[in-house]
Amino acid sequence: METKKYIIKTYGCQMNEHDSERMSYMLHNLNYIETDKYDDADLIIYNTCIIRENAELKVYGHVGAMKALKEKNPNLIIAVCGCMMQIDEAREVIRDKFKHVDIVFGTKNLSSLPYLLNQYLTYNERVIDVEDVDDIDELQKAIRKDKHSAYINIIYGCDNFCSYCIVPYTRGRESSRSESSILKEITQLGEEGYKEITLLGQNVNSYGKNLHPCTNFPSLLTNISKIDSIERIRFMTSHPKDLSDELIEIMKNTEKICKHIHLPLQSGSTRILKEMNRKYTAEQYLEKIVKLREAIPDIAITTDLIIGFPGETDEDFNDTMNMIEKVRFDQAFMFKYSRRIGTTAAKMNNQVDKDITSERFQKLLDRVNDICYEKNSEYLNTVQKVLVEGTSKNDTSTLTGRTDTNRIVHFKGQESYIGEIVNVKITDYNSFALEGELIE
Ligand code: 5AD
Ligand code: SF4
Repeated sequence: METKKYIIKTYGCQMNEHDSERMSYMLHNLNYIETDKYDDADLIIYNTCIIRENAELKVYGHVGAMKALKEKNPNLIIAVCGCMMQIDEAREVIRDKFKHVDIVFGTKNLSSLPYLLNQYLTYNERVIDVEDVDDIDELQKAIRKDKHSAYINIIYGCDNFCSYCIVPYTRGRESSRSESSILKEITQLGEEGYKEITLLGQNVNSYGKNLHPCTNFPSLLTNISKIDSIERIRFMTSHPKDLSDELIEIMKNTEKICKHIHLPLQSGSTRILKEMNRKYTAEQYLEKIVKLREAIPDIAITTDLIIGFPGETDEDFNDTMNMIEKVRFDQAFMFKYSRRIGTTAAKMNNQVDKDITSERFQKLLDRVNDICYEKNSEYLNTVQKVLVEGTSKNDTSTLTGRTDTNRIVHFKGQESYIGEIVNVKITDYNSFALEGELIE
């Protein structure tokens, strides 16, 4: 069979990254190999994200630009999949205004890719299919980008309906993978040499609720920690309202679970949190932070924050500023509120002025970066265990890796250390990363 070349362009979160890794596996089985040259490609797949408007606009821009390439090379196949294709309006834009797109599929029929490709090649007609057919308990084979740290899906979808968020409409209702299929996949990854795994889900704390017999996330973590070859376990994302004492206890007592939790706060104002339908108050969030730090003093806590949610006043914004002083996050991902059609918040008529949002965003960003810098200074002269992920982009004599607490560390060393967990003494830092020296 003739070898063909593909490109997958991925937008958005780790779930999409991992979906792309799974598509790579399917394509390699069809005798496709990856290329990074658009002129050489026989197939280009856009795995899209719609969480904020700028992600959506980027996709339209990039897919639109492919029209010229398709005219030059009519045999080129262009496919669009991912979260955008789950939303009727966005799918219709691709269908009606991007006629050079040949194949459209969604987040729930990823496994149909070989079939859809074959259908297109056989009939040479556009294929648009987003029907839910995937069996989430199937073993999920993937060609992973990273050879030492692997993503694993444990729960799909979201039932929370935060008022700003489109994810419940793109990824559907919560649904957990069976524990046996997760454990089997991780055992295999361990045998292949993976040392670290990251469990993925919109809300990992809800794991197991819909399974029979019912189980839970702490119990899954305990069973995963018994797989000898796996040395580090990470997970994301946790919803603050579901962060249980039991999970904190398991994190404290299980060495393999990394001392890091990503706990999106979204806003420091209890009033706005209510409007966001987050189901916790600022005080309740702080209580969880205190509990986490009491149990695991050196835990790294990272967060997501939305600025300019409808109706956010100066006072609400100050509450967010005050919360970051109280919590002192190790890292915060900040987003300007983006109106997403179909969500409850999109219907709110008190949208915040763009300039005010930008001003608040900058103020928050500056303070968050200062705090990250101060937090990173605490690592100076400590010795950290670092899983070496690879070499630095511009300098192959510099290695990069991550601490247990998810800090990026750069240090000099040989490539043979890639994939190993090594000791590094921290000698310098900035807001975003640490620098160190390898201790042999
Ligand atoms: N506007 C801005 N940020 C959003 N997020 C989700 N929806 C929106 C939106 N409409 C952010 C939240 C979430 C992160 C993944 O993306 O902070 O935690
Ligand atoms: Fe979106 Fe809220 Fe679900 Fe997270 S928990 S995916 S922010 S609806």
